[in-house]
Amino acid sequence: MAASSIIQFLSFSFLLFLCSSFAQTSFRPKALVVPVTKHASTLQYVTKINQRTPLVPVNLVVHLGGEFLWVDCDNGYVSSSYRPVRCRSAQCSLAKSAACGDCFSGPRPGCNNNTCGVFPHNPIIRTSTSGELAEDVVSVDSTNGFNPGKAADVSRFIFSCAPTSLLEGLATGAVGMAGLGRTRIGLPSQFSAAFSFHRKFAVCLSSSTGVIFFGDGPYHFLLNVEASQLLTYTPLLINPVSTAGASVAGQPSADYFIGVKSIQVEDKSVAVNTSLLKIDSQGNGGTKISTVDPYTVLETSIFKAVTNAFIKAAAARNITRVAAVKPFKVCFSPDNVLATRLGASVPWITLVLQGQSARWTITGSNSMVDLRDSGKNALCLAVLDGGVEPRTSIVIGGYQLEDNLLQFDLATSRLGFSSTLLGRQTTCANFNFTSNA
Ligand SMILES: *[C@@H]1O[C@H](CO)[C@@H](O)[C@H](O)[C@H]1NC(C)=O
Ligand SMILES: *[C@@H]1O[C@H](CO)[C@@H](O)[C@H](O)[C@H]1NC(C)=O
Ligand SMILES: *[C@@H]1O[C@H](CO)[C@@H](O)[C@H](O)[C@H]1NC(C)=O
Ligand SMILES: *[C@@H]1O[C@H](CO)[C@@H](O)[C@H](O)[C@H]1NC(C)=O
Repeated sequence: MAASSIIQFLSFSFLLFLCSSFAQTSFRPKALVVPVTKHASTLQYVTKINQRTPLVPVNLVVHLGGEFLWVDCDNGYVSSSYRPVRCRSAQCSLAKSAACGDCFSGPRPGCNNNTCGVFPHNPIIRTSTSGELAEDVVSVDSTNGFNPGKAADVSRFIFSCAPTSLLEGLATGAVGMAGLGRTRIGLPSQFSAAFSFHRKFAVCLSSSTGVIFFGDGPYHFLLNVEASQLLTYTPLLINPVSTAGASVAGQPSADYFIGVKSIQVEDKSVAVNTSLLKIDSQGNGGTKISTVDPYTVLETSIFKAVTNAFIKAAAARNITRVAAVKPFKVCFSPDNVLATRLGASVPWITLVLQGQSARWTITGSNSMVDLRDSGKNALCLAVLDGGVEPRTSIVIGGYQLEDNLLQFDLATSRLGFSSTLLGRQTTCANFNFTSNA
């Protein structure tokens, strides 16, 4: 009894300590906003924040399921406010770090003694390294949901250092990755803790420049669309087994999973092996959302079932199949395909999700890639074959997310999704980035 109240008291004082360190902030915004630009050759989504003292702009590849922010500290990291996170500190336990290390070529950012270690991960090259956990100033714009406003600073934002080699495969100019994952030190949790706002964030990707909001709506898009009003909800599911490159045993996945109950093509259910749609006790199967996969990836049997149904439904509309164009396997002649506000007029694909009337409709704008721009007379289905026994059966990729608003609510564990905003005559590129600070 006495021992447990001491433990409770200790964890309570840890919390107080954390709150007071987070609270060294400039003012208390209700929400924050950052731009996200699609990089043409890698198809990655790149955001920009300010970090360090003096502040410098830092380009980061957005990794929705990434566990935390990591940056290259070996090349040009200069900051008077850099602090390594000490072993056994509160920040160290917040990061669920199990490693404590020394470094013999320092001291410098990324190389200090008695520091807590984590495993920054680059999913593009499927590589993890070890990295020193650290804190430094991070600054991003506040927002009232209409425009960016005054910058808001977090004086001790937790991140990991990584070696320069971990940048391989990332868009030119990126110096790390912004992990928005489901952890205590992911960007969404740290921002909401720092400013005491709702543990919610929203992602709206674009083929040009879209936007990420931290905090609750409103989320206004020109002209006059308040996208937080357009959401349908489905539960976010927890995968009990980490899907990161390297992890401590017993850690749940930081990725965002949802429950696909069935898949329809033009309102007809496609027969798939439903056990693949569930997350099993080893953490295999299920459906996750990814910003680092440019296109949706389906387990082989699901891929075959969905593409066959799509080819049949397209044929019924006199749309003719043409030779495949890599990386796609299913392409069509654009000849009998009308262009509409919702993209190419092709059969719609619907993900029937857990929750009442939770149907995510994927129209031509999110299902077909138009290769006429690159000199080939083809429209291709933007879905890839993930092979047999992939870790996750369905990975919903970036192309399927563009011009859809997705709101992740960590407190209630639910996803709000809008389906395409094109039907509302706006796009994710329509946030007004003119500052009214
Ligand atoms: C860490 O400590 C060792 C000796 O215990 C020392 O040789 C080394 O220089 C120290 N490294 C740093 C980064 O302070
Ligand atoms: C369905 O998928 C599960 C999990 O991969 C597998 O064990 C099972 O054999 C599959 N069933 C059929 C009928 O293919
Ligand atoms: C498809 O083409 C056939 C023959 O040209 C025509 O009879 C039919 O009406 C067309 N169907 C559609 C859906 O356009
Ligand atoms: C964007 O915001 C600025 C600043 O509030 C405003 O002056 C401008 O009219 C807005 N643009 C549009 C197209 O509404």
